[in-house]
Amino acid sequence: MSISIKKTLIIGLGLIGGSLAKALKMNRQCGQIIGFDRNSDEVKIGLETGVIDVAAENLVEAASQADLIVLAVPVKAMEKVLVDIAPFIAENTLITDVGSTKGNVVEAARRVFSTMPSGFVPGHPIAGSEKSGVVAADETLFVNHNVILTPLAESSSKAVILLTKMWESTGAEVLVMAVDKHDEVLAATSHLPHMLAFSLVDTLAQEQDNNTDIFRYAAGGFRDFTRIAGSDPTMWHDICLANKHALLAQLDRYTAGLAKLRAAIECGDSESMLGTFTRAKAAREHFSKILSGTAYSQHMSNLHVTFRAQPGGSVNGKIRVPGDKSISHRSIMLGSLADGVTEVSGFLEGEDSLATLQAFRDMGVVIEGPDDGNVTIYGVGVNGLQAPPGPLYVGNSGTSMRLLSGLLAAQAFDTELSGDESLTKRPMGRVADPLRLMGAEIETAENGRPPLKIKGGKALKGIHYDMPMASAQVKSCLLLAGLYAEGETSVTEPAPTRDHTERMLTGFGYPVEQVGATAKVKSGGHLQATRIDVPADISSATFFLVAAAICPDSDLTIAHVGINPTRIGIINILRLMGANLELLNEREVGGEPVADIRVRYAPLKGIHVPEDQVPLAIDEFPAIFIAAVCAEGTTTVTGAEELRVKESDRIQAMVDGLKTLGADIEGTPDGAVIQGSRLSGGVVESHDDHRIAMAFTVASLRSSGEITINDCANVATSFPGFVELAKSVGLKVEKEEG
Ligand code: S3P
Repeated sequence: MSISIKKTLIIGLGLIGGSLAKALKMNRQCGQIIGFDRNSDEVKIGLETGVIDVAAENLVEAASQADLIVLAVPVKAMEKVLVDIAPFIAENTLITDVGSTKGNVVEAARRVFSTMPSGFVPGHPIAGSEKSGVVAADETLFVNHNVILTPLAESSSKAVILLTKMWESTGAEVLVMAVDKHDEVLAATSHLPHMLAFSLVDTLAQEQDNNTDIFRYAAGGFRDFTRIAGSDPTMWHDICLANKHALLAQLDRYTAGLAKLRAAIECGDSESMLGTFTRAKAAREHFSKILSGTAYSQHMSNLHVTFRAQPGGSVNGKIRVPGDKSISHRSIMLGSLADGVTEVSGFLEGEDSLATLQAFRDMGVVIEGPDDGNVTIYGVGVNGLQAPPGPLYVGNSGTSMRLLSGLLAAQAFDTELSGDESLTKRPMGRVADPLRLMGAEIETAENGRPPLKIKGGKALKGIHYDMPMASAQVKSCLLLAGLYAEGETSVTEPAPTRDHTERMLTGFGYPVEQVGATAKVKSGGHLQATRIDVPADISSATFFLVAAAICPDSDLTIAHVGINPTRIGIINILRLMGANLELLNEREVGGEPVADIRVRYAPLKGIHVPEDQVPLAIDEFPAIFIAAVCAEGTTTVTGAEELRVKESDRIQAMVDGLKTLGADIEGTPDGAVIQGSRLSGGVVESHDDHRIAMAFTVASLRSSGEITINDCANVATSFPGFVELAKSVGLKVEKEEG
């Protein structure tokens, strides 16, 4: 959509003004581009190099005729320019600026205009280069860079929309922020680092007699760190004056942090030093992931990953799949609450369990790793968590949110738990309601959805709770709250669900009583740090178990898989369908049974899936649906209504996708009726659900055409490296990112 601007006046043809002029002139979105600069040589070069269409001879006249005015002069000169042009600006003219501080620009504008024009929306493109002047003008300078607009109370929404479009036409991404917030953010992310670089170089240059040696031998670290000390001194002097308060606040925070590190070094406090370094390293990786769009952050949903799976093939070999997601989450939680250092191996480095890890780092726990599945957790004890600096963001992870809510309800501090778009649609009333019965104060969004705002300082009381649904997450949440609740907390489940929390608490020396379907804990105990060997996740193994089971000539072994009796629904169901499945080398590792599982192809037949197996295979149904389509006869699934509230409505997602591929399948409120069918190729939607994406990849082994699966980025939540591993055993799948 083009913007109805006939004349754009750019005042100040430096690097930013010149680059904007050039970009707008080339994309023809903002009419004629008129340039003005105090320095007439700059204007001349601008004209000669085609950066602008026309040079403004008379600033006032040009301003009075312009539909859009961009102030691209130094921040200090802004007021003077505004004084000159203000009386002549027409009523509907759009006005913006490119200054790197906003509070002082707005103050200047308020002094100049008796009534702030509704077309005025201050802005700040976060782009630059060490070059300067109109000769350096680069029309691509803003591509994929952020531009922050800081609308005022008086700014019209039309002006904000038009200026957003103007910047987007240059390839920039536009963010909207309050003026104060902008100045705070920039003080922390730009102004403070510049002060540190200037000060470090200045200090080293002054203090040492042998400073030439220091600079001569300075290695990459010093050079990288101080590159920005080469920036323009006058500009930085002006920024310090313009953003004094926000910058001083950041300098104080930084100085306090540095003093803490100094003290830790002085007294050899390794935990504190490692805490600083590991938190910083993790935060840095987290930022870079956010920037590259692959983290478990909001930004992940922006990454479009498509799987293209070619038909046919067979699967063979011996593989190990990543660590168990449920056990990985719990290892971080209980390791953090333990006394002493817990060593974890086999940890799942997927986005979900990393979200839990980050949450505990945010609450002050020192955690080293993960490094090739190894994590070291310096436990802080049951009462050692600290208030996080902001909301705890857990991405796509329902397990993080539900289990954490139990723990957080009992802390002394307030917390907020938020997640991505898919998690924000999932029910949290199932944990908030019983926690409230224990005395917790939790606010949810409408219909019990996230975010959860949890009030601290509440004394919880133990309760007995009969769970209305078979959910390990609800059970675990209440048991974790029970560690803090007065007296005893007991939970009865309507059907057996995964018992990793109970097993792991026991492994950490915390007593859990199990009487039939009821698990009980008492508060007041403590957890003793231990070693945890996380087995491979049977839920991830499932995709390969089904792959080998449906595909002639397959013979696949998956090593070291957790076969906890509360998780082996998939083994039981596949065996009932006639699969040739062997458990080899059965053993127990750290309180959890494991085995190698060998599957060889055998024809499958349809069955009625026994309802008592449903909770034991709850995450495996997307793959079971694929097995059912490849079986002879009818498979019926009942009693599985929980599938409708997983990462997606898994019944609907599978029914829709399988119908697209030509299968004969009907959904029911609590399951589906699936006929053995021939599968064609087609395009299916994963609905951002990792397990739907992986199930349809496996389906390609028996389809007659290519299956394209949309929105597969979330496979990284539970199964990093899925595509590579799938290819290594014979699936013909490629990942496309864009
Ligand atoms: C989990 C429990 C299950 C499962 C989820 C992980 C856990 O959820 O679907 O992937 O780690 O406790 P419900 O408790 O909602 O059934």
